[in-house]
Amino acid sequence: MRARTLLSITAAAGAAGIGYATLVERNWFALRRYDIPLLPAGAAPVRILHISDAHLTPGRRRLQSWIRALDELDPHLVVNTGDSIAHHQAVPYFLEALGPLLSRPGVFVFGSNDIHSPRPKNPARYLWRSSSGDHACHAPDLPWEELRDGMTYAGWLDLNNHHGKIVAGGVDIALAGVHDSHMGRDRYEDVAGPANPQADLRIGVMHSPEPRVLDRFAADGYELLLAGHTHGGQLCLPGFGTLVTNCGIDRERAKGLHRYPADGRAWLHVSAGLGTSPWAPARFACRPEATLLTLVPR
Ligand SMILES: [Fe+2]
Repeated sequence: MRARTLLSITAAAGAAGIGYATLVERNWFALRRYDIPLLPAGAAPVRILHISDAHLTPGRRRLQSWIRALDELDPHLVVNTGDSIAHHQAVPYFLEALGPLLSRPGVFVFGSNDIHSPRPKNPARYLWRSSSGDHACHAPDLPWEELRDGMTYAGWLDLNNHHGKIVAGGVDIALAGVHDSHMGRDRYEDVAGPANPQADLRIGVMHSPEPRVLDRFAADGYELLLAGHTHGGQLCLPGFGTLVTNCGIDRERAKGLHRYPADGRAWLHVSAGLGTSPWAPARFACRPEATLLTLVPR
């Protein structure tokens, strides 16, 4: 085969891949489901809807409709692990997308992208470095207070370096969360200490699944740890999976449900997230997702 023909085929395959990743897979939303044996014997199942990393902009109508339709799953609790917005005017669109979900019990933490607007950057740089520190010389400029107030006004618990408790599906749940460790806003000492032993279930919530934070939640007795941030790697290799996690978690636990630590008793669910930065609008071999976690008796 002539070099010119080979070059043409390679260029055509590259263009097709980019078209697929930006136009098809980025909008090919998936619902993942897991059953987790965490409830006392005889308890009725409890459904937790885990959403994360919507990075919503006003123009993403398909994503907004898909989020809104998640209410049909009839979750007892909604957990939002942050990076919800990516535009100065996105808050009303995000709250509208949550729609009926806001009348259900819910909790949230923030990610760095709820605070700082997205900036153009080379997406390939994630292959050799993390985005931690990217916001250090970039003042907070997104309306995170409006986002916080919209969710708390609806009754959702703000778990950014806070404790809380909630009754969902008839189950008493003790919760603790931290603000984003990826940008150094986590203050675990504000929530540190043994998780409430009187509760039926203990959940730790964070944006970035950083091992130093996960270790502390697990040591304090939190049995279910929920995080986002990784986007599952966002651009993955079929047959190999995640290339980078953009934080300290290992590639194997960049998305999905796993034990934490690997031989421990806690469960860690990392959401691959619903969106992308507007400056890196592509997903490959890593569909955007929400997850329905159904807690069942041990
Ligand atoms: Fe994100």
